[in-house]
Amino acid sequence: MNKVINKVVKPLKGEVVIPGDKSVSHRSVMFAGLGDKPVHITNFLPSADCLSTVGVMKALGAEVNFISDTELTVKGNGLHGLQEPPTILDCGNSGTTLRLMMGILAPQPFVSTFTGDSSLHKRPMGRVINPLTQMGANIVGREGNKKLPITIIPAKEKFKGFSYNSPVASAQVKSAILLSGLFSDGETTVTEPYKSRNHTELMLEACGVNLKYDGTSVTVSPVEKLDVPEEFIVPGDISSAAYWLVAGSIIPGSELLLKNVGINETRTGIIDVLKAMGADLTLQNERLSGAEPVADILVKSAKLHGTTFGADIMPRLIDEIPAIAVAAMHAEGDTIITGAGELRVKETDRLQAITDQYNKLKNCIEATDDGLVIHGSQGESMSGVCFSYDDHRMSMSLAIAGIVGNGVEIEKADCVDISYPNFYEELERLIAE
Ligand code: S3P
Repeated sequence: MNKVINKVVKPLKGEVVIPGDKSVSHRSVMFAGLGDKPVHITNFLPSADCLSTVGVMKALGAEVNFISDTELTVKGNGLHGLQEPPTILDCGNSGTTLRLMMGILAPQPFVSTFTGDSSLHKRPMGRVINPLTQMGANIVGREGNKKLPITIIPAKEKFKGFSYNSPVASAQVKSAILLSGLFSDGETTVTEPYKSRNHTELMLEACGVNLKYDGTSVTVSPVEKLDVPEEFIVPGDISSAAYWLVAGSIIPGSELLLKNVGINETRTGIIDVLKAMGADLTLQNERLSGAEPVADILVKSAKLHGTTFGADIMPRLIDEIPAIAVAAMHAEGDTIITGAGELRVKETDRLQAITDQYNKLKNCIEATDDGLVIHGSQGESMSGVCFSYDDHRMSMSLAIAGIVGNGVEIEKADCVDISYPNFYEELERLIAE
């Protein structure tokens, strides 16, 4: 599907209720499915990625009942009660489903095989397969155990306690290892170069698992069972709020109230960067939603200027670079982004995708090996036809680039379904208000 987005000629005003967090939605279904009591999940994100996790957990024997799109119950058969899946496990576009489920399934006494879409087949899985193999897993994959399709064969012995120094700050890698660690014969420690999102740790703790922290290291001990809580409440997704934070900041006269945004500090890098660029953002009504902090964020338009940021903040805003790049195009002066090499192995190579497509709208971006140089200005934008590469975050960021610039036609625009199914409806509602 192609989507035509017109330039917006008036301020954006009103409220947006931010949909459930993708990372927490995945984990709520996985963790509930590892317990032995029914768990009630609210504000679940009913997106294609999270539904891939639901499909995988059902194939492993979890009972899943939807009460509405965003509310469901999940009941598992206990930590050691997963069943051999009768089908190939299809992870669709979802790296989180695949990598975390590899961590859960590697220690199981049955065979499982994973597949996914063409994007997921290109993404690096050696980063999970290698450490799991060192723990004792027997995993085979294409291209020398690096890519989908992947098969897990029962390990010969119980997993060994393990200490892993991860070369990448990745919550998916960290989570896979910690989840395998639950089934090991000793302590499992993961150390990252910088701390990545900690939803797995918070949810493990909510399930009664004791974790030890030391700098960027986290250690888990094996457990016999997970004491899953009766309810998981999913906070709103700051990665989905990102598009409105940028649009509201750039379009003159705008004032948007973004309701129920997760503000876990491992995710709020975009707030820090936009504030450093001069954005007018106010956190209101800060509270807890389950184990996660949330707030409503008031964004008022402001004159933005360029900024510089790099590897240390990257895990806290890794998914927001496509949106931040749009802000930087419309800010006064240069924005220099380094330490963002991980963007080359996301749903598409986002550094190349941003450079090739955004430059059709405003020719001001250069890609480096691990980042972007964006020569921002408040000058005129062009209108153009841009390709999303079937990458949800590219599509939504291009839509924002279109409304704040001079319009855009997005090719393969329906991939927003991966993380924000009603994104275009929300955009149209805000424009019409
Ligand atoms: C995620 C972790 C991040 C992020 C992805 C979701 C998660 O990936 O980009 O969208 O839920 O753990 P990496 O761990 O590969 O950085």
